[in-house]
Amino acid sequence: MTPVESILKPQIVSAFDVERIRADFPILKLKVDGKPLIYLDSAASGQMPQPVIDRLVSYQTTQHANIHRAVHYLSEIATAEFESARRKLQHFINAREDREVIFTSGTTDAINLVMHGYGRKFIGAGDEIILTTLEHHSNIVPWQMLAEEKGAKIRVVPINDAGELLLDEYEQLFNEHTRFVSVMHVSNALGSINPIKQMIAFAHARGVPVLIDGAQAVPHMKIDVQDLDCDFYAFSGHKMCGPTGIGILYGKADLLEQMQPFKGGGDMILSVTFEKTIYNTIPQKFEAGTPPIAAAIGFGAAVDYLSEIGMEAIATHELALLNYATEQICRIPGVRIIGTASLKTAVLSFVVDGVHPHDIGTLLNQEGIAVRTGHHCAQPVMQYLKIPATSRASFAFYNNMAEVDTLVAGIRTAQNVFV
Ligand code: ALA
Repeated sequence: MTPVESILKPQIVSAFDVERIRADFPILKLKVDGKPLIYLDSAASGQMPQPVIDRLVSYQTTQHANIHRAVHYLSEIATAEFESARRKLQHFINAREDREVIFTSGTTDAINLVMHGYGRKFIGAGDEIILTTLEHHSNIVPWQMLAEEKGAKIRVVPINDAGELLLDEYEQLFNEHTRFVSVMHVSNALGSINPIKQMIAFAHARGVPVLIDGAQAVPHMKIDVQDLDCDFYAFSGHKMCGPTGIGILYGKADLLEQMQPFKGGGDMILSVTFEKTIYNTIPQKFEAGTPPIAAAIGFGAAVDYLSEIGMEAIATHELALLNYATEQICRIPGVRIIGTASLKTAVLSFVVDGVHPHDIGTLLNQEGIAVRTGHHCAQPVMQYLKIPATSRASFAFYNNMAEVDTLVAGIRTAQNVFV
């Protein structure tokens, strides 16, 4: 280490100050029935820091108008801010060009866009689509709808008991009928981080494009779509400090250009007559109608906020939370962690002997602790594991170790009530 590095290093390490970060989130000051809120449901939706809230207010109070439609002062400002947000998202995931970044209403909408725009054009009778057992319903149902419409077939990559994809089985699913792979980067129910780079390379070697559902990955790690070489990557604003109602579909430009539009309307056209409509170029071809302008600008502010903290620092803190919480929960007799993949984000699904997950959720709520209970919109995972539901604590960078302790105490209290 050079003298300069040795001076800088401690500052870099101590730059992640969770208490300072927590002060940015007004909602974390809430009390629930007189107890401090312990928010452990960030996999469902994350919380919003003050700078993002402020940006939404400043946009609405001084910059709002419709975009791409007028030459007046406000329309020009709103258009510039909306397109600036697109470039922020482009840089955040390292897309080659801003036209490869399409604003959608969220991950579900982005996957449906690919199903309609790519799938309905390029996938036909007898073709096969590969999904995995881990998928969220939003990455199953659209493909089932397509398969039903076209007479295509869904093939499913199995998992092991830890919640890891079986890569050998994945590779064996490929044949001359394979046309598409759609796989989640991180499991929302279990936290498993899937080896998507390897899966993409294998599919590409056979000429098969790959969509990645990144809803549970982008909030927690640095994503580089060029390095991954995925064809499509979908994610949502509200899981990463941004507003609801906004998400991104990243797509390689050449594929997006070949696709048909998903929705028709204003802004996605170059010209319209009753005889013929000529579609706009990408990304506008996929952004019919007035988009959620404020939400897109808020999403831009959210990635500014995350970038300032640094995704590496966020990942490091969340790994420490995961390790500590795993160790503490493993010490409670009668509690079993569901999802023990060797690579995980800070998601802890668990079951408690003799107590239904909904009762755990209700009792934790009485302690001010917010967790999700149920099948987590991933029923095939539950079916594989032969359980109806889990309780799921999902952490974000604004959680601290004391909250893990409160969760552990809350689980013990719930056990005492029931057992
Ligand atoms: N997919 C979100 C979750 O896992 C809603 O909770």
